[in-house]
Formats: sequence, structure tokens, C-alpha cells
Amino acid sequence: MTGKFITFEGVDGAGKSTHLAWFTDRLRGRGLEVVSTREPGGTPVGERLREILLECPMDLETEALLMFAARREHLSAVILPALDAGKWVICDRFTDATFAYQGGGRELDWEKIRALERWVQSGFGPDLTLIFDCPVAVARQRLAGTGVALDRFEREEEAFHERVRAAYHRRAAEEPARVRMIDASNTIEHIRKELEDIIITI
Ligand code: TYD
Repeated sequence: MTGKFITFEGVDGAGKSTHLAWFTDRLRGRGLEVVSTREPGGTPVGERLREILLECPMDLETEALLMFAARREHLSAVILPALDAGKWVICDRFTDATFAYQGGGRELDWEKIRALERWVQSGFGPDLTLIFDCPVAVARQRLAGTGVALDRFEREEEAFHERVRAAYHRRAAEEPARVRMIDASNTIEHIRKELEDIIITI
């Protein structure tokens, strides 16, 4: 039996990482073997690329190609072997983030991203994706409240994040069977109940 591949997405500051940690604990509590990982990153090569991607200004297409280079390494070294071994994989961001940030935020041609997706993933994708969605102003306020230094994407202007959010909505509309929108402006307790309901059905 192979495990399930679940990805967490959303605008910066929506709270996905907090919910991911809780969700992973709940799955482990049910006796599942779970690998928790992230993109860009998750491998030695991927983590080096993450540093470059989050710090160095670069050409937009270079940015998209490096995201997919990190993803290819992640798939072959971590994600696919774990799933083959029957483990579950929970990933903080995946290809929907490239559609949202490079496609939406930076306005890279959607079809170019689709072409890279086909090349790198050969039809493979998440079983389930949870998009944590809230108004950009709410997310910005939460980010500012953490006091943590902002990366190159988080420092982008509000209009960029509005386009990221809109692109996530577009992804959800394109693939309603895979993507679940979670209203991240609700309380943590409310969202945990929603996640619990999702866990029961997967
Ligand atoms: P994020 O996942 O928000 O990590 P942290 O919680 O540590 O801030 O940061 C990763 C950033 O990378 C995020 O701002 C979105 C960006 N990103 C892309 O632009 N494209 C992608 O394909 C991926 C995976 C991430």
C-alpha cells in the first residue's frame, strides 16, 4: 500500500505552518508513519536552493526553473520513496505555490508552469491540497506580528499578494476534487475542527 501525499498552501501569514504541525501530529496519533517536509527545500540540494531563492533577486524564469529543480530533487530523494514505503507525506507548499507566486504574483505565463509541471512530475501530484485562505490585510498583519525577518517574497507589495491569493482561488476552481479551501480568518479551534473532519474522511 502506498501512503498519501498532502500539501499545505496559502498566502504568507495565513497560518498554514502552524496547522501543518498540528495536522501531522494528529495523523501520527492515528498510528500513521508521516514524513513532514517543505518546499522549496526538503533535501540538501533543495535547502541550498531555498536559501538562494529566498534571498537573491533573479530573473523570473530562473526563479521558476529553480523551484522545479528543487522539486525534482525532493520528489526523487524524499517524496516518492516515502510514498512507496507506505508512509504519508505532508508538504509545506508544492506546485500550487509556483502557480500562485510565480504565475499569479510575478505573472509568469501559466502554460510555462504547466509545461514544467508535466516534465518534473510526469502526471504525479498531491492526493489532497489544503489552501489556507484569508484577506491579504489579515495575513500581512499576522506576519508583522511575528517579528521574524521577512524573506524576498514576504517583502513584496500588497498587490503581489492579492495576485497570489487570486491564483490560489484559480487553482481551487481548476481542481475542485483535490483542493480544499480553508477559511484561515477563523479561530484556530474552528480550523482544527475542520481539519479533524478532513482527517476522518481521508
Ligand atoms: P514559506 O513556505 O512561507 O516558509 P516560511 O513559513 O518559513 O516563511 O516560504 C517559502 C516562500 O517561497 C513563500 O514566500 C512562497 C515562496 N515559493 C514560491 O514563490 N514558489 C514556490 O513554488 C514555492 C514552493 C514557494
